[in-house]
Amino acid sequence: MPAMTDLHARHTGLRSHRSVVDSGLAAPPRPPGSPDAASTDGLEEAIGSLLPALDAFNRFEGSDRSVPRSAWLPLLDETLPEEGAGAEAVLSLLRDELIPRGLRVGHPGFTSWVTTSPSTVAAAAHLTAAVSFAQRWWLQPGNFVDVLAVSWLIELLGFPTSFVGTFTSGGSTANLVGMGAARQHAGEKLGLDPAAEGIERLPSPRVYASPETHHVVTRAMGVLGIGRTAIRTLELDAERRADVRQLRRLIAEDLAAGRTPVAIVGNAGDVNTGIVDPLAEMAEVAREHDIWFHVDGAYGGWGMLDERVEAAYGDRGAYDSFAVDPHKWLAAPVGTGLAICRDGELLSRAFTIEPGHYDRERRGAQDDGRDAPYPWGVLGSGTPDWGVDFSTPTRGLAVWAVLKEIGAEGMRERVRRHNDFARLVAARAEEEPELELLSQPQLSICCFRYRPPGWDDGERIDQLNMAILHELRLEGRSLPSSTRVGDAYAIRACFINPRNDREHVDMLIEDVLRLGRRLATDD
Ligand SMILES: Cc1ncc(COP(=O)(O)O)c(C=O)c1O
Repeated sequence: MPAMTDLHARHTGLRSHRSVVDSGLAAPPRPPGSPDAASTDGLEEAIGSLLPALDAFNRFEGSDRSVPRSAWLPLLDETLPEEGAGAEAVLSLLRDELIPRGLRVGHPGFTSWVTTSPSTVAAAAHLTAAVSFAQRWWLQPGNFVDVLAVSWLIELLGFPTSFVGTFTSGGSTANLVGMGAARQHAGEKLGLDPAAEGIERLPSPRVYASPETHHVVTRAMGVLGIGRTAIRTLELDAERRADVRQLRRLIAEDLAAGRTPVAIVGNAGDVNTGIVDPLAEMAEVAREHDIWFHVDGAYGGWGMLDERVEAAYGDRGAYDSFAVDPHKWLAAPVGTGLAICRDGELLSRAFTIEPGHYDRERRGAQDDGRDAPYPWGVLGSGTPDWGVDFSTPTRGLAVWAVLKEIGAEGMRERVRRHNDFARLVAARAEEEPELELLSQPQLSICCFRYRPPGWDDGERIDQLNMAILHELRLEGRSLPSSTRVGDAYAIRACFINPRNDREHVDMLIEDVLRLGRRLATDD
């Protein structure tokens, strides 16, 4: 641990008081009016003092070059303070030093990730949830809109209203919930209860998925005791979608060998190229064998809101479970995923949490129309039996707020616009002789590379594109990511950020061409 810096001393200035607390003779100083060392009032002043800095940050002026690690790390890298520095020291550190150096994923030219920073109302609702609805439970407005937001999303995404859903911390947990339901389904078919007894008696479980499946699915298999190696990786067809003929072959082979097919996993827009698996056909195979059909739409599930590609998602009523992230394309604050499931009762059996003594009475409570404690299934509420959280923030408040602000049509329009941006990138990549399109976008991701005419050496082209991406990051105007498409290193632009605009599409192409020409000449 490096020595404490001068700046640290300026922000805390308290080291000399250490002995007072160590001796146990004096309580730490308390803010006026607070029974605790932490201030519990003055919220308006505290947040108000941060708002100008937050607003300035959200304008994303300047470039990422203004945030070298050396500018902020020494301010933070300190040992645990024995005595608190007080509210103002923390607020000023936030305001003056940290906020301006924040993560610029919401930058309008940022097209790297499938998450972004929240839109304005989503951020405001997030703060509201933290203060006013500090738990999603108990029937209160936050709880009600949390449950309402789930039902709105079930409707928006075209699921039957009999499906249930629960907010999760993200796509990882939403997939874990779906895969937990799959495990329960597979066990119950054999007269077992995997949630209660584990899966020792479940013979050789197997899960079928394409190599483009996100690694959180295999991790969920690890967590659930199915094991990561139980994955049967399907080949990709010519359109980079899971090969359904091979899926049928593998299932037949596993059944003949006495293994247990637990789940077929489809991708509703993989994170690399945004390709949607042949979901209707996969669902059909699942139905034929009564295998659970889980679909990961954490990023691309929203793509179904574009009527031009909606058919690729097939009938949502044929899915058994679905993961989708409001913290991706919906631009809700990170920490907001959603698991949707066909069978709420099975899901409850998979994730039952036995009530504690303190909890029994509340769970049995009936809604008295006024202030009844969380009465399961009545009006609002939801249940902790549908996921892995118990105490949980009111994640749905921000989702409700965004949907209320922009409506279903606002979200559809965002998805169409972003899908159009990816198509525009593809069109430019096809049109420019120095660019090569590597994946034809189905949704809002386009992968391409700079390839000077006459260059054939794959390794050399990769190196050039790595150098281009490096320079792009230094410039901080156009911020795509990289991936691999087949053997090729690709520049990957992913549009989910509500701040991305048409001009950023053109800027990205111009920046890649400009840097490519310069770096290819230097080569
Ligand atoms: C397709 C897909 N599934 C799952 C995940 C994991 O989601 P999260 O990061 O919200 O846990 C991601 C995140 O990138 C994703 O793109």
